[in-house]
Amino acid sequence: SADAGLNLTNIQGDILIGMKKNKELFFFFTIINSTLFRSQLGSGILPLITPTSQLLAVDTQPTTAVNLAFSQRGLTTLDITDDLGDTAFANGQIDNVASILGDETSNWESAFAGTSIHGVFLLASDTVDNVNATLSQIQALLNGSITEAYSLQGEARPADQQGHEHFGFMDGISNPAVTGFSTPLPGQQVIDPGLFLLGETGDTVTRPAWAKDGSFLAFRQLQQRVPEFNKFLVDNALSNPNLTADQNAELLGARMMGRWKSGAPVDLTPTVDDPVLAADPQRNNNFNYSHPGFDLDTDQTHCPFSAHLRKTNPRAGLTPENTANHIIRAGIPYGPEVTDAENASNVSSTDPSLERGLAFVAYQSDINAGFAFLQQFWANNAGYVFEIDPIIGTDGLGQADVPRSPSGLDPADPTRIITIEQDFVVSRGGEYFFSPSLSAIQNTLAI
Ligand code: HEM
Repeated sequence: SADAGLNLTNIQGDILIGMKKNKELFFFFTIINSTLFRSQLGSGILPLITPTSQLLAVDTQPTTAVNLAFSQRGLTTLDITDDLGDTAFANGQIDNVASILGDETSNWESAFAGTSIHGVFLLASDTVDNVNATLSQIQALLNGSITEAYSLQGEARPADQQGHEHFGFMDGISNPAVTGFSTPLPGQQVIDPGLFLLGETGDTVTRPAWAKDGSFLAFRQLQQRVPEFNKFLVDNALSNPNLTADQNAELLGARMMGRWKSGAPVDLTPTVDDPVLAADPQRNNNFNYSHPGFDLDTDQTHCPFSAHLRKTNPRAGLTPENTANHIIRAGIPYGPEVTDAENASNVSSTDPSLERGLAFVAYQSDINAGFAFLQQFWANNAGYVFEIDPIIGTDGLGQADVPRSPSGLDPADPTRIITIEQDFVVSRGGEYFFSPSLSAIQNTLAI
């Protein structure tokens, strides 16, 4: 449901609603002939770029949706010298690596650590064949003006795991509603479009006019150590007498995430999964961690303070409710399912072809208020609402496997501390990009 508030034919489709296909290729490229590239961009590439409007109705959806974004280095290569007003974007993600994001640089994919990534095509479709056909079409149009710097093939997990990330939890439930664009579901926060789109209401930074309706895309390749995560849950399973051993392991995982694997929020159903609640969009986001008769600042019987969901969006935990630090997520899993050998050994394979994780995508108009803020000041910060995020948190110093000691995970004894010695998510790096409007591609980037 959209209204006329935003120019939906001009805003790239991944930003506000996501391309939501089962396969999505992230094709990172280097521009080797800027003039040729720019000359092919308007007539050749632009007609392939999928605006929001095209994704809104089933009958206008393309076989392969295409979005395009540039790094600062890419814009500079195109002789676009305007300052977009975002220092994180201008400096590149590598500049944030250890002190802000807490990544260990040694784990970074070399392409992200280097200087060759000028931009990224996001290609989304039902099949890898469709994606590859569109990529060939783009490469033919660009006529040798780009080369591949790196690519990552995202794909939804199979069968009943579709929509679930690799630890097994349903993802993509809670994104903010955007004023003038979406009708909020119960419990969904409504956020100004300017937090996601440059130059819209709520964006207070001075930008070049052509940047309006673009968005910054924070990309992260986040490896997930699934066998290690599963072993941790079994080894530290809770001891609710009404649950089986497996269910007690599931319970611990749910409390670390803030949702059950089904997607049911722990805040509404703290000790037992509720798949019916999970599947009901009128109810599955309708909570804010406050409960009559419980002190919001101390109660962890409902949802632990450290739960990933609560760390990355405290909802009523902040008064007034935070309207400054929000992202729209549009990621997709990558990599194969866990193999029998990995399951038996409880250790992730070191075979690169078996790496799995989340191709994380976050949109915002200000990276230091969006993704980087959530990672640094909330997830990695033990001083903020007491705990480090057990899923994505690091020590913030770029060191490996720093122990965390969250309380609240055991609903039967919320003061009990369960030590987590290892990182289950390992950042393999990423980059910050600008996803321009279609008119900016036409009038400013193309020649
Ligand atoms: C929500 C998993 C990385 C921010 C969720 C949910 C899951 C999940 C299962 C619940 C589904 C939903 O509510 O939509 C993961 C995994 C990650 C990861 C497995 C890494 C491999 C990140 C990162 C950030 C982030 C890096 C930002 C720094 C969020 C936010 C929410 C969320 C903002 C929604 C919170 C809310 O509005 O209540 N994540 N996530 N996630 N995640 Fe992550």
